[in-house]
Amino acid sequence: MKRMLLAAVAAIALSGTAGAETIKVGVVGPFSGPFAIQGKNFKAGIDAWMALNGAKVGENDVEIVYRDLPAANPAQAKALAQDLVVKESVQYLAGFYFTPDAMAVTPLLEQANVPMVIMNAATSAIVTKSPLVVRTSFTLWQTSVPMAKVATARGIKKVITVVSDYGPGVDAETAFATTFKADGGEIVESVRMPLSTTDFSPIMQRVKDSGAEAVFAFLPSGPTTLGFLKSYNENGLKGAGIQFLAPGDLTQESDLPALGDTALGVTTTFHYSVAHDSPENKKFVEAARAAIGNPAELSFPSVGAYDGMRVIYKMIEATGGKQDAAKAVDAVKGMAWESPRGPVSIDPESRHLTQNIYLREVAKAADGTYYNKEIQTFANMADPGLAAAK
Ligand code: PHB
Repeated sequence: MKRMLLAAVAAIALSGTAGAETIKVGVVGPFSGPFAIQGKNFKAGIDAWMALNGAKVGENDVEIVYRDLPAANPAQAKALAQDLVVKESVQYLAGFYFTPDAMAVTPLLEQANVPMVIMNAATSAIVTKSPLVVRTSFTLWQTSVPMAKVATARGIKKVITVVSDYGPGVDAETAFATTFKADGGEIVESVRMPLSTTDFSPIMQRVKDSGAEAVFAFLPSGPTTLGFLKSYNENGLKGAGIQFLAPGDLTQESDLPALGDTALGVTTTFHYSVAHDSPENKKFVEAARAAIGNPAELSFPSVGAYDGMRVIYKMIEATGGKQDAAKAVDAVKGMAWESPRGPVSIDPESRHLTQNIYLREVAKAADGTYYNKEIQTFANMADPGLAAAK
């Protein structure tokens, strides 16, 4: 009798492990407001992953719970994350477009026993704020160091930097300036502008007056970047021979139709082009375009989200669906795969992706659409910003 009872208890315990539990993943991002296309890209990447790989890991169903955060707002980010953990019982937090939002949530992770998979926020230091952060996007150090190398190789000697005054902007400025100066270049002026800036004409005048041969710029992708590049064109900087240098945030694919021919020939450095030529990317783009609806809206946050889902699925598999954040994160350290962007791996120390960064040029396809054509590869880059962030 006692034996039977024990067997029954064991069977119940087993079914608790292998039975169909629903694992919830809370995704925070801008799904409305001026940055809504960026959030839409998170969702397209997630939908593409689930369309190609199913909505189950083993016996466990995976459910995505979305929370809208229209603009950078750390207090609201924290409140949304708390709500997802306490009320929705999510086992994973993911998404996070803006750095300040990701930063505000890192102090909650350990007590909540929840890993955070960052699908965009790109300031190097975020991963140092909690051992439970894993990032599948890029950093501004990764993308800006190669741009400084490109500037030097082109014989440019004097640059003015213009960045949004917050984490990733400061990283971009520091990464570019440090690398460019080490190679003998000169930074004639460094401008930091508020994140809320929409009138860029006064800045373009400063660029003209600075005596620089080129401007290096970073702003977070969205209406900001579109406005900045339009202003560069409209204020005659190109005509004045001032070259434009930037990470790929400035020429995201969803901005290209509005920029039109004025963007042709603009070169940027980035981890992902929708036009990346590989079977993995073809498969991804097809699924992500079906998910997003309007193919012209597909842009880089989708690939951060797609790879983020791969990482979360691996975490669910490694923990058998049980909530164990440390074990989940340990399971993905060193993980390597072929991403739609190219080969990637998770550096066990930084928990950030080692990946190729590409120099790209805005080009026009035979069908009249614009794309970022990859023309040079900086292979296998770890985050050069990690040392600076410590
Ligand atoms: C960030 O806030 O970390 C961020 C946002 C948009 C970008 C890059 C970085 O394009």
